[in-house]
Amino acid sequence: MMRLTLLLLLGLAVACSKTDTLGDEPPREVAISGQPTYENGVGELLKLKCGYCHVVPASDLSPDNIVTDLDLNQYETRLAGTQVVRGADSIGRWIKEGILDHGVNAFYNSADARQMPLDYGTPLTQAEKDALVAWSAVGSPKNSAVDPTGDKNNGAGPYFTYCVQCHDQGQGTFYGEQYYGAPIRRASITTAKVKSMWLYRVSQLDPAPNGYSLQPLDDQTAADIKAFMLDLSLLED
Ligand code: HEC
Ligand code: HEC
Repeated sequence: MMRLTLLLLLGLAVACSKTDTLGDEPPREVAISGQPTYENGVGELLKLKCGYCHVVPASDLSPDNIVTDLDLNQYETRLAGTQVVRGADSIGRWIKEGILDHGVNAFYNSADARQMPLDYGTPLTQAEKDALVAWSAVGSPKNSAVDPTGDKNNGAGPYFTYCVQCHDQGQGTFYGEQYYGAPIRRASITTAKVKSMWLYRVSQLDPAPNGYSLQPLDDQTAADIKAFMLDLSLLED
């Protein structure tokens, strides 16, 4: 067993040094100027420094123990048959919890994750880290398009059926020491994130709430839920 593990580790080190070694060249930095959006540099950065491991289906470089449903080469969380494949729209809260600086074991039903990228991957520069943190703080947007307007009266019903169990008034809920649902920053409430949560976290509820089926949520309902959530009394700023 010991020998097998060692061999595997050696194999991994060799596999990674091939791709990650740039000789004497410093690793390339993705410069992001202006508002950080997925289309304005963040996507390119995630592809370059995260997406060679976080790709679905997994690549030769994806370590064995990796989460198999996170693809950082795309923005939207999507359905592939009956599998939910999370995209970059899903990682805002992980960045907020500090995954670029230290491990994060904050969320129930999630990996006990080490600092990202893993230490044998190409590191982020400080400027890249700052850009990802700034992107998360403004709600991890795809681009600068404005979200469609919703009706909060229509959003209340879906919020109480599909989201309140985990998020309560916005302060989140606990399962032991971990968040069952995270606290919610006001800026993180975007229609993209609502749609992403609909596929990813709502599908984890057991039993499934009445009326839930694993299909993408329509834009209007997402906008209505968003409008309702902006009035929650315990949001983080
Ligand atoms: C060398 C491969 C590798 C690279 C590069 C990498 N990751 Fe990871 N990532 C992993 C593995 C493996 C896990 C599973 C947890 C662990 O083993 O620490 C993981 C877990 C995660 C998780 C937790 C997902 C969950 O739902 O439980 C997030 C979020 C994450 N990575 C984000 C990133 C981001 C952002 C980057 C780029 C800045 C990145 N990772 C780069 C291998 C990698
Ligand atoms: C099973 C529990 C669960 C359910 C159900 C759930 N969430 Fe979440 N939510 C989480 C967890 C855990 C996180 C943090 C990790 C992540 O993003 O996956 C989170 C993160 C969020 C965030 C980002 C918070 C931040 O500050 O970045 C928003 C916004 C959000 N959820 C909205 C919703 C909406 C809208 C619904 C209903 C459609 C919903 N959630 C349903 C558990 C849940």
